[in-house]
Amino acid sequence: MGQWQKTDWRKKPRIQMPDYTDQDVLKTVEGKLAKYPPLVFAGEARNLKSELAKASRGDAFLLQGGDCAESFDQFTADGIRDTFKVMLQMAMVLTFGAKVPVVKLGRMAGQFAKPRSAATEVQNGVELPSYRGDIINELDFTSEARIPDPNKMLQAYTQSAATLNLLRAFSTGGYADMHQVHSWTLGFAESNKASRYREMATRISDALDFMNASGLASADNHQMRTVDFYVSHEALLLEYEEALTRVDSTTGAWLAGSGHMIWIGDRTRQPDGAHVEFCSGVQNPIGLKCGPSMTQEDLKILLKKLNPKNEAGRLTLIARFGAGKVGDHLPGLIKTVQEEGANVVWCCDAMHGNTIKSSTGFKTRPFDNVLREVQEFFAVHKSEGTIPGGVHFEMTGQDVTECTGGIGAVSDEDLSKRYHTACDPRLNASQSLELAFLVADELVALRDQKRAASQVEAAE
Ligand code: PEP
Ligand code: CO
Repeated sequence: MGQWQKTDWRKKPRIQMPDYTDQDVLKTVEGKLAKYPPLVFAGEARNLKSELAKASRGDAFLLQGGDCAESFDQFTADGIRDTFKVMLQMAMVLTFGAKVPVVKLGRMAGQFAKPRSAATEVQNGVELPSYRGDIINELDFTSEARIPDPNKMLQAYTQSAATLNLLRAFSTGGYADMHQVHSWTLGFAESNKASRYREMATRISDALDFMNASGLASADNHQMRTVDFYVSHEALLLEYEEALTRVDSTTGAWLAGSGHMIWIGDRTRQPDGAHVEFCSGVQNPIGLKCGPSMTQEDLKILLKKLNPKNEAGRLTLIARFGAGKVGDHLPGLIKTVQEEGANVVWCCDAMHGNTIKSSTGFKTRPFDNVLREVQEFFAVHKSEGTIPGGVHFEMTGQDVTECTGGIGAVSDEDLSKRYHTACDPRLNASQSLELAFLVADELVALRDQKRAASQVEAAE
């Protein structure tokens, strides 16, 4: 076996990727991207890996969230700010409630390409190629709009660079300062979760005031003024990924420069396919979606291919089975991981197994099912004695009506009011916060159970 090359995926079967009609344009775009600076640096990806290693041991918790698909049209500074803010609020709920450090990972700055369940879409008897995300083609239902255009990769790169720039500014420039915990509540819809958040914010402010007054923490404490915020996306469009892949001069290892973490989707995880081949050779932390069709045999092969050195933090298994199905699938995969002695972060994507069509014709997700899948995920780990390491969800800081239920009680009829997603339905800000409180409660219960067990052990 020769050394891994970033072009090796081209020799493997590729699915869910566009067939560009104009190869010359494609080559020109790839050439340009290959000269552009990478969006992330290897040291950052390694830091994320060590944070994820902590999550794999239960010493941190992964919060991964953002749009299903980023869009060119809906790209605004306020949109980025609001999603970032909700992530910070959720992280605060977890850190304060469950006393666990939170690894904050956006589905942002590169989450453009979408796998589709059908290659074509039919509307009123007209059949056109499916929309595959703004990095590939356009959502409008015209034959022109649905032609894949390589130039869209350049726009996606530019938007990702600008997004990451703003996220970095928010993370270190004062916005994420813990002392701002109260101002993050501005614009909250009134609800009992919002007041639970405000109450928590007051307790945090009090604690900070106390620490300041007593000299326990100086006002310019870096930890309290900044956050580490990472970005991730599905590595689906491999021409884009390859062009941004570079050798890291410190270690000589390859880095996918398109984002800190990249993941492999549930539809493109064939052990011999192009996507697994690509991801196997870069040093970034890798996510692997595991849906109901993931077999123990495939998982075994994938663990070896994607993490041959069994590095902690390298591989995150993102389980997405659907409410009511976690108990059927997760225990078997946990067994495989244990038999292999594999280091993984177990993460729960409570969105993608819970998509349904509403009575009013919208693609939606009942919020109750999302919560139920999270609870089932925790319950299985509790009974297996393994570690629930994180959650993965599609959300936005905007007040959308895309998932039904939650405190605002979004109904099937409400879906048409503010349904803005370019792809899958997302949780809105208050649903996201509600989810965070539930996860915090689960983590507290888990911690209490562990404490009780170790007290029993100590007494014996
Ligand atoms: C997604 O995360 O947007 C997605 C398509 O997920 P999955 O591959 O799990 O279906
Ligand atoms: Co999605």
